[in-house]
Amino acid sequence: METIPSNLAGKVVLVTGAARRLGAGIARYLAARGARVAIHYGSRAAEARDTAAACGGVPVFQADLSRVPEIAGLFARVEAHFGRLDGLVNNAARFTRFDPLKITEADWDYIHDVNLKATFFCCQEAAKRMQAQGGGRIVNISSLGALRPWAEHAHYCASKAGVVMLTRALAKAWAPEISVNSVAPGVIPFEEIGAPDVQDFIRATPARRAGAADEVAEAVAFFLSATTFITGQVVAVDGGLSQR
Ligand SMILES: NC(=O)c1ccc[n+]([C@@H]2O[C@H](COP(=O)([O-])OP(=O)(O)OC[C@H]3O[C@@H](n4cnc5c(N)ncnc54)[C@H](OP(=O)(O)O)[C@@H]3O)[C@@H](O)[C@H]2O)c1
Repeated sequence: METIPSNLAGKVVLVTGAARRLGAGIARYLAARGARVAIHYGSRAAEARDTAAACGGVPVFQADLSRVPEIAGLFARVEAHFGRLDGLVNNAARFTRFDPLKITEADWDYIHDVNLKATFFCCQEAAKRMQAQGGGRIVNISSLGALRPWAEHAHYCASKAGVVMLTRALAKAWAPEISVNSVAPGVIPFEEIGAPDVQDFIRATPARRAGAADEVAEAVAFFLSATTFITGQVVAVDGGLSQR
């Protein structure tokens, strides 16, 4: 793995949901810039090991983030391995589609347990350690769906809008030592785009294309290495779609 000079060199950064897709792309991008990445995964152990190998042989950590005690265990294991934590990227999330008239309590909890509740408790575990060591940086991956309403994803949009407000409130709570910012991806496909609604999104995007994992990772890396004076901010990486 070739290393690109960056002020992320040597920083310990935990990326949740990093076995594949966007989380893996973020982890590889950070590792290529010298960060010591911790790969978290939920169920995809083999893919997590592949991503870890692509990041230069970094460690992997399993935890079901829908269970708060497992979140505490995850951070304890990362701390035991690295002895510190400079950055956290809350990337893990769930995504489902439902007619809001048909959504059940279980459907609602399924999304919120990971997208909002786990994000909060990961922030809390990280902040305890970052405060003790004098500072750190947290980046929460939200979504264009936090900024724009999607009718059949009302529950997902609500969870991600919650992530944005959590980001702003925690930025206020933990300044000046810890910055808390959010990156809101637009359409970032990882397989062939078949779904008509995704094609409609891409047609409506001012950039006239979908985004790539590296483009989201670039914004994440910025927040992880920027001054903590930049905090509580949300950057959409969406080719301008949120401006329409
Ligand atoms: N892709 C897009 O176009 C897009 C657009 C807007 C926002 N986003 C946001 O960007 C982030 C990544 O997107 P993505 O499409 O790459 O996501 P994804 O593949 O749907 O999910 C990322 C990872 O989250 C992990 N995860 C889910 N529930 C978990 C749990 N209970 N415990 C532990 N891990 C859990 C999964 O890990 P395992 O596979 O190991 O189980 C999964 O690989 C998400 O926050 C998403 O909302 C993506």
